[in-house]
Amino acid sequence: MRRFILSPSLLSADFGNLRGELEALEAAGLEWVHWDVMDGLFVPNITFGPPVIKALRASSKLFFDVHLMIDHPERYIREFADAGADLLCVHAETGVHLERTISAIREAGMQTGLALNPATPLNVAEYLLPQLDMVLVMSVNPGFGGQKFIPFCKEKIAALSKMIRERGLSTLIQVDGGVTLDNARELSDLGADVLVSGSAFFGHPPYAGRYQDFQRKMES
Ligand code: DX5
Ligand code: ZN
Repeated sequence: MRRFILSPSLLSADFGNLRGELEALEAAGLEWVHWDVMDGLFVPNITFGPPVIKALRASSKLFFDVHLMIDHPERYIREFADAGADLLCVHAETGVHLERTISAIREAGMQTGLALNPATPLNVAEYLLPQLDMVLVMSVNPGFGGQKFIPFCKEKIAALSKMIRERGLSTLIQVDGGVTLDNARELSDLGADVLVSGSAFFGHPPYAGRYQDFQRKMES
């Protein structure tokens, strides 16, 4: 059976109590946490950056899955590595020198991720696949939590899964945006390995119970 990972998005967590939220996730058995870094330029919203991640790194054993929604992410790779990111995911739409950026993430000691907006074709990831630990398929236009899943992204997940299998690779597929208990099973069947959930997770305490609800969906 494939391993299923749930990566709760802190965008929907209590920003006034991030340390407590991270502790609660760990206590509930979660292994990953998803950090949505937004700069007000690539996306209209602004969240947090390396200093906040760094301040919380020491008190958490969770795998820090960092989703950069910022212009020129190549300028900040060292900062995020120093802050303690385990995986750094950059958007394909932010750069013309993606191979260089992905190589720099690897050289900085982090796992590599490439995110694609809903309208961005899969072929931008094709030649980079052997260098990628994860491809993030955005299933909403990035910037905000609580949006509706864009249906054509299902086709994209299936096509990416086929592309990865045909090449004999083990690149993970992450799906982010509009993930709920109702579509989690279908997304996993299509090929998603890592599901990000913000509003459908944090809005429903206790976290251990919600995590089990997701796991039951995936494993049924
Ligand atoms: C959107 C972010 C997501 C967001 C998902 O730009 O990348 O990670 O938090 O939120 P939900 O699960 O509420 O759609
Ligand atoms: Zn995200």
